[in-house]
Amino acid sequence: MSRMLAKVERLEGILKVPGDKSISHRALILGAAARGRQIIEGISDAADIQSTAEALRAMGCFVETMPDGRTMVFAHALRADVRADAGNSGTTARLLAGFVAGRIARCEITGDASLCRRPMRRVAEPLERMGARVSLSDGGTLPAVVEGGALHGIEYEMPVASAQVKSAVLLAGLSASGSTSVIETTPTRDHTETMLRAMGADLKRENNRVTIRGGHPIDGITLTVPGDFSSAAFFIVAALLVPSSHVVLSFTGVNPRRTALLDVLRRMGGRATIEALHNEELEPAGDIAASYSPLQAVELDDPAVVASMIDEIPIFAVAATQASGRSVIRGAAELRHKESDRIDAMTTNLRAMGARIEAFADGFAIEGPTPLRGARVSSFGDHRIAMAMAVAALIAEGPTEITDDSVVAISYPRFFRDLAALMR
Ligand code: S3P
Repeated sequence: MSRMLAKVERLEGILKVPGDKSISHRALILGAAARGRQIIEGISDAADIQSTAEALRAMGCFVETMPDGRTMVFAHALRADVRADAGNSGTTARLLAGFVAGRIARCEITGDASLCRRPMRRVAEPLERMGARVSLSDGGTLPAVVEGGALHGIEYEMPVASAQVKSAVLLAGLSASGSTSVIETTPTRDHTETMLRAMGADLKRENNRVTIRGGHPIDGITLTVPGDFSSAAFFIVAALLVPSSHVVLSFTGVNPRRTALLDVLRRMGGRATIEALHNEELEPAGDIAASYSPLQAVELDDPAVVASMIDEIPIFAVAATQASGRSVIRGAAELRHKESDRIDAMTTNLRAMGARIEAFADGFAIEGPTPLRGARVSSFGDHRIAMAMAVAALIAEGPTEITDDSVVAISYPRFFRDLAALMR
């Protein structure tokens, strides 16, 4: 299926985007690792979260929606030989590899065609060092078989900036003997550490080192998941680009390790602010207000900034087409290993709409402002590419067709409905 979108006059309204996907995955998986019940309010309705829930059920965990809409997770005994399908979700595959390594005798992990092209050696390597056996397919990809057993703690210096790898090692460390430390040169999202601590884990953070003591139990908690900043990002940029727009994204996660895009947009002259902070939750949440703003180009190469906006780079590229000057982003080679090669996907699509964009191995340069023209573009089977191109369509002259648009369900099933509700 494909979707036709056209230029809009104005966007206005208040929206609450679905629950944060990264936090929702962790709430489920850590719930399955805990004593007692985990109760989750506001969990994401994304297909990726369904993949995690289904995989945990296949392992023998209880994961259900209660009559009040909250989700309950608990696990008594896990099955010994399991097949888990992570679908399109890298977070499911990588975090579950760490979860099962010290808990399940044999777990086969598979996924869809896109996920089976993505690198898995980055998690296999530390898990093997901890004592698990991990067989990957040729090329270091899924399907994989993790043969778990008694693990021992390690000290692991991360070769790539990846919260998924860090989380997999910490999850394995939870059931390993001794302590496990992860050292990251580039800080990545810290939802796993925050939740583990709240659940009673013996976990310490010192500078760029996180240490967890194995064998120490964690307990289920009741938690509320804020809206996903990575989903809100599409509406923030849309409000900045469509003249006269004003949009508020209420109760959105604003963990500083996720919100570099906000700082970058502000540096570009964008009016995007956190209006009210709700700090009483496990993770900080805020109401984000964004209004139409003329933008200036920006150059980005700080690894911490790139890591903190890694999922927002496709929508940043759309903003850069409308900023005056040459915007450059470097040090983002990880984009080539996401649900699609996001450097190729955005370069191909934005060029088709008339943008001036040059691709590098690790990023791109965009000359702006360039008026966009409607075109037929592809989602490349990637939810974030589909949503970024939907925003580009709102400012383009002439209709834009996005092929394979249903892929937005991977993170945001009602994206097009929510977008339509803001159109004036
Ligand atoms: C995620 C970490 C990031 C991000 C992904 C979600 C997570 O991936 O791109 O969408 O929830 O830990 P990497 O760990 O590969 O950087």
